[in-house]
Amino acid sequence: MKRTDIRLIFENKEAYSGNEITVCGWIRTLRSSNAIGFIEINDGSCFKNLQVVFEAEKFENFKEVTTYTVGSAIICKGILKLTPEAKQPFELSATDIELEGLADLSYPLQKKKHSPEFLRTIPHLRGRANTFSAVFRMRSELAFALHSFFRSRGFMYVHTPLITTGDAEGAGEMFRLAPVGGKEFFGQPAYLTVSGQLEGESMAMAFGKIYTFGPTFRAENSNTARHAAEFWMIEPEMAFADLEDDMELAEAMIKYVLNHILTNCKDELEFLNRFYDSELIERLNTVANSEFGRITYTEAVDVLMKHNDEFEYKVFWGCDLATEHERYLTEKIYKKPLFVTDYPKEIKAFYMRLNDDGKTVAAVDALVPGVGEIIGGSQREERLDLLEAKINEVMDNPETYSRYLDLRRYGGTKHAGFGLGFERLLMYVTGISNIRDVLPYPRTAGNAY
Ligand code: 4AD
Ligand code: MG
Repeated sequence: MKRTDIRLIFENKEAYSGNEITVCGWIRTLRSSNAIGFIEINDGSCFKNLQVVFEAEKFENFKEVTTYTVGSAIICKGILKLTPEAKQPFELSATDIELEGLADLSYPLQKKKHSPEFLRTIPHLRGRANTFSAVFRMRSELAFALHSFFRSRGFMYVHTPLITTGDAEGAGEMFRLAPVGGKEFFGQPAYLTVSGQLEGESMAMAFGKIYTFGPTFRAENSNTARHAAEFWMIEPEMAFADLEDDMELAEAMIKYVLNHILTNCKDELEFLNRFYDSELIERLNTVANSEFGRITYTEAVDVLMKHNDEFEYKVFWGCDLATEHERYLTEKIYKKPLFVTDYPKEIKAFYMRLNDDGKTVAAVDALVPGVGEIIGGSQREERLDLLEAKINEVMDNPETYSRYLDLRRYGGTKHAGFGLGFERLLMYVTGISNIRDVLPYPRTAGNAY
């Protein structure tokens, strides 16, 4: 069967005007009188619906078609007619409507508005609701834009293992992996990865500029709107690069993907702007065209301490910044995306490069309004003696990092990279405030629908 995507018609209606075409999709609404009926059909190829008109005098089974329910799958054949005077730019004047699958009257997406909490309990159906139609299409566009950005800069895409034997972050948030009822499958304890960085670094030492893009897993027991147990991360790694190069890359990446989304997801953005965040489009446009702020952790702490009465967790030098602090900085003080650099070594991962002050490391977090941290990165410790001492000092199983140390032994160089939380970025570009609503099947502490 030759079917036409509704998206193609919206992109170039003149090309289809007067043609007989077939569209396949799901009924969003159906209304009818004795003589004529209207179906809004959505096929998932774009945000918009196509209006299908069917008339009693042309349809033997007119009465039957009027009984098709919301959610039913249908195949419509007809002639595309431009309707410049009407609300919608064109309609399909149907010659045949075939029922593929009737939706039972218990179909939950009958009424227009449901709470996000309810919709999370039906992840298998919510893709057919407007919000998720927009968000999941944007998820795909965003992934494509990221690949195309890194490709345009000569980065190689590498796949790092999801099953690992070491803790890449040293934060002890790994899920343990074992066969059901079986023994240690790999002959040693194995875990789901929290980050592809360490393997990514080894690939960068062979290919210069690489990135990973895949799922990562964290057993963080934090029940927040921005933590998931399974999320996707993009991790670029560059040999011969320092923290400045890292920030330049991160800023260019975010601007590139924002421009892509602004150009390619107009209908989705308009919908989200209308129903979720009335400043969304304006904000994305501004950010795509302005410089990100840059401050050190020490400067951030100085600024925040002046507002300690407004925080649940009081700020002091040496504390980890919480979401409330990150959002205060980027939303209230600087009012734009922000790089915060040079954190105390005690609160950051073992692999970050020690600064000359001996107290801070060459770390960078990127913070954005509405979400807080979306990127965590650093220049890596390339000095063998310092790295070895640090691993021996803070890691549980120092011997598992011998290969990582080898990279410093055999032609090491300064290098840097970061991890971008894909869902955090998607929250930012959609204005959706809960990570559970940008993952098709969210997994969070206590929930795996
Ligand atoms: O800051 P993180 O922990 O950094 C790393 O994992 C480094 N290995 C990255 C690197 O340098 N290659 O995580 C990176 C980003 C965070 O900034 C955040 O956006 C996201 O991953 N992230 C999460 N997103 C959703 N749910 C969680 N539980 C997340 N934990 C981190
Ligand atoms: Mg982080």
